Amino acid sequence: MILKATNVGVRYGAHRALDAFSLGFSQGEIVALIGPNGSGKSTALHALAGLTSPDEGEVVLDGREMRAWKRRNLAKRLSFLPQAPYAPDDMSVEELVRQGRFAHVGLFQSFRSEDREAVEWALESTGLETLADRGLKALSGGERQRAWIAAALAQESGILILDEPTSFLDIGHQVEILELISRLSRKRGVTVIIAIHDLNHAMAIADRIALLSAGRLVFEGSPTALSGTGLLEKTFKVEGEFIQSSGGEAPYLQVRVRR
Ligand SMILES: Nc1ncnc2c1ncn2[C@@H]1O[C@H](COP(=O)(O)OP(=O)(O)OP(=O)(O)O)[C@@H](O)[C@H]1O
Ligand SMILES: [Mg+2]
Repeated sequence: MILKATNVGVRYGAHRALDAFSLGFSQGEIVALIGPNGSGKSTALHALAGLTSPDEGEVVLDGREMRAWKRRNLAKRLSFLPQAPYAPDDMSVEELVRQGRFAHVGLFQSFRSEDREAVEWALESTGLETLADRGLKALSGGERQRAWIAAALAQESGILILDEPTSFLDIGHQVEILELISRLSRKRGVTVIIAIHDLNHAMAIADRIALLSAGRLVFEGSPTALSGTGLLEKTFKVEGEFIQSSGGEAPYLQVRVRR
């Protein structure tokens, strides 16, 4: 396990957003964090990324307590894309993506060829080469989301934590990003932790699924194991049917919509 949360509890005032959350992550695996709105996904990701100090429990990265990590070292090891990231309005796509190299470029040091290559690779992987000079505020919602994904990629860290990275993307770009994530994990051994609302995309991409309900982890295991539990239907209060294809793909949940 390279990253491990043990008994993590996070409270906002009297509200327990996350309760006794324990989950470990191995190198190169993709773990999808799913759960209804307000179930604690973003809170869990913030704790795993070292941005929230838990009220209870601990998060350990590479054997060291998260609190002991220096910011720059942490940024080399782990990149985090928040659900609603903020950047100054006048920033261009390329400037944002270059920010991703912050951990690698020392103070008073200039961009080296490897930094430039990482930025180019990130822009290309997200299909943003032609938009590199465009201001962030002059982009569509999906283009802006891809620019943020590019910034996280440019960081070239071993652990990628993404909070609903595909929520604004059209279906083609969603698949492109999911396949990119899959390649990063298989070819570069990147560990990916992704909160995502599309259950079928979660099951298609993830080695393991973690299901949160009202701040508690109620399931952790393979997509196939999850499909037999009835937990998705119960947690999201939907009726549906799992379809198991013969091609060895992950199960698919067909949800019933009454009309
Ligand atoms: N800063 C805050 N102050 C008070 N309550 C908060 C704060 N941030 C989150 N919460 C509450 O904590 C709970 C968990 O929030 P969280 O953002 O982790 O949910 P989520 O699973 O990511 O939801 P979504 O799918 O809508 O993104 C919610 O009930 C939310 O209202
Ligand atoms: Mg969230």
